[in-house]
Amino acid sequence: SAANDAASRIAAWQRRAGRHGLPWQQTRDPYRIWLSEIMLQQTQAATVVPYYERFLDLFPTVVDLADAAQDAVLHAWAGLGYYARARNLHRCAQVLRDAHGGRFPATAEELARLPGIGPSTAAAIAAFAYGERAPILDGNVRRVLSRYFAVEGDPTAARTLQRLWAHAQALIDAAPAALDMAAYTQGQMDLGATVCTRTRPDCARCPLEADCRARIEGRQDALPSPRAR
Ligand code: ADE
Repeated sequence: SAANDAASRIAAWQRRAGRHGLPWQQTRDPYRIWLSEIMLQQTQAATVVPYYERFLDLFPTVVDLADAAQDAVLHAWAGLGYYARARNLHRCAQVLRDAHGGRFPATAEELARLPGIGPSTAAAIAAFAYGERAPILDGNVRRVLSRYFAVEGDPTAARTLQRLWAHAQALIDAAPAALDMAAYTQGQMDLGATVCTRTRPDCARCPLEADCRARIEGRQDALPSPRAR
């Protein structure tokens, strides 16, 4: 029986109803997880799968990627779009080769110092690869937490983000040591993508329904607040 804390409920929901069987969910290799997270930033999983497989055939390790010509990397990326991602990916591989012995650092904090890896992506990599208890806050998770905690204010404003990060950390702190960080991290993303959607949140299917403040107050449609403009 799952614990009653929200993080454990999200992890249990992910195991039951989340997205499974994707190739990057079958590994704890930080290189493969990093590659998938960068590809998934602006591209749907179904599109990413064949690119991900081909990319790993061409560049099986981060040092292979670092040693490749930029043309070869951009060619393997062609079709995914947002080519700045591919250039950062290549630069990041070179930094890992030249300054980190070809290995990924072991913490989210260090991962976030690398080119193209923001704080949320760093936390996702550390959670999936190492089980680190690091909070994520991508666009989907901002929406989930804005509703669950009824956080007001422009969801992209610095002070709102600071509050959301604090809530994200508090959820992990309240969860037992046994929390499955991979299921929890994937679960937050899946919940935001499939249940706690922008326009039609399906609260009846949500593991947070019972204590979601937006749901209790009937304000699912008003949160997150519209961006200031
Ligand atoms: N977007 C970013 N990371 C993702 C992941 N692990 N699964 C699905 N979508 C994502």
